[in-house]
Amino acid sequence: MTIHIRQLTKTYKLGVERVHALAGVDLDITQNEFVAIMGASGSGKSTLMHILGCLDRPTTGSYDLNNKPMHKMGSAGLARVRNEEIGFIFQSFELLNRASALKNVMLPMIYSRKHWLTARSRAKRALERVNLADRIGHKPNQLSGGQRQRVAIARALVNEPSILLADEPTGNLDSTTTNEIIDLFKQLHDEGQTIVIVTHEEEVASHAQRIVRLRDGIVESDHPTAEDPIHRRWLAGAAAAAQEAADNTEPRPSQGHDTPATGASA
Ligand SMILES: Nc1ncnc2c1ncn2[C@@H]1O[C@H](COP(=O)(O)OP(=O)(O)O)[C@@H](O)[C@H]1O
Ligand SMILES: [Mg+2]
Repeated sequence: MTIHIRQLTKTYKLGVERVHALAGVDLDITQNEFVAIMGASGSGKSTLMHILGCLDRPTTGSYDLNNKPMHKMGSAGLARVRNEEIGFIFQSFELLNRASALKNVMLPMIYSRKHWLTARSRAKRALERVNLADRIGHKPNQLSGGQRQRVAIARALVNEPSILLADEPTGNLDSTTTNEIIDLFKQLHDEGQTIVIVTHEEEVASHAQRIVRLRDGIVESDHPTAEDPIHRRWLAGAAAAAQEAADNTEPRPSQGHDTPATGASA
């Protein structure tokens, strides 16, 4: 089991106030799964992703990553796991503006004893994987939004993580660019990558194999995408809308003066 979570809680303290961001989450994710996490704003998606990504630790409960207990690790141990096992992608890209695409992708390897000798060639290869071989010298402000997110994905992939975590990776992108990024995730999944992605768009979730919905810090539902009731309703609505659009653009026979009757001009 890649991810094995039991009764996970996270409570934030704000002065005397307590926010129960996660209130007892159970979740298992196996190797090479492609999972979408959905849920209303404030339901705990980012909190869960941060714990999965070893950026934060739970208040109570257990989190095993590749059979190792993350909830028992100290910050140095978590930092090492983060560097070696996790690729994290943020909505806001989080790139260094003054550094080229290549330098941005090399960053995770600065601290890696295993990789620093080959950092440059590995970074180049990661940029090739996301189809940015021709942009390695560009800085973030010389790239489009989609290209910036692809640099961030290359950076997340460069240490060959066992899981790729993406928190609303298409939240700042238009629909064409969103499709481009989703295609890239599908390609990485086909190549064997385990992927967990947070999204509020059913369209994006439709490409995942499984949808986990959070509500008030617990798992409200967990279904294969094709069996998720909310997703099925959305699919039916999308199909009806597409049909209606097709009906409206189809030329009606009575208006067919542009198309001569068969044989009339022969
Ligand atoms: N650092 C924090 N300190 C206090 N409360 C937080 C913090 N981060 C998140 N929260 C609260 O925890 C809850 C879950 O937040 P979050 O995980 O960001 O939800 P989502 O990503 O689903 O929108 C929200 O009520 C939010 O206000
Ligand atoms: Mg969030």
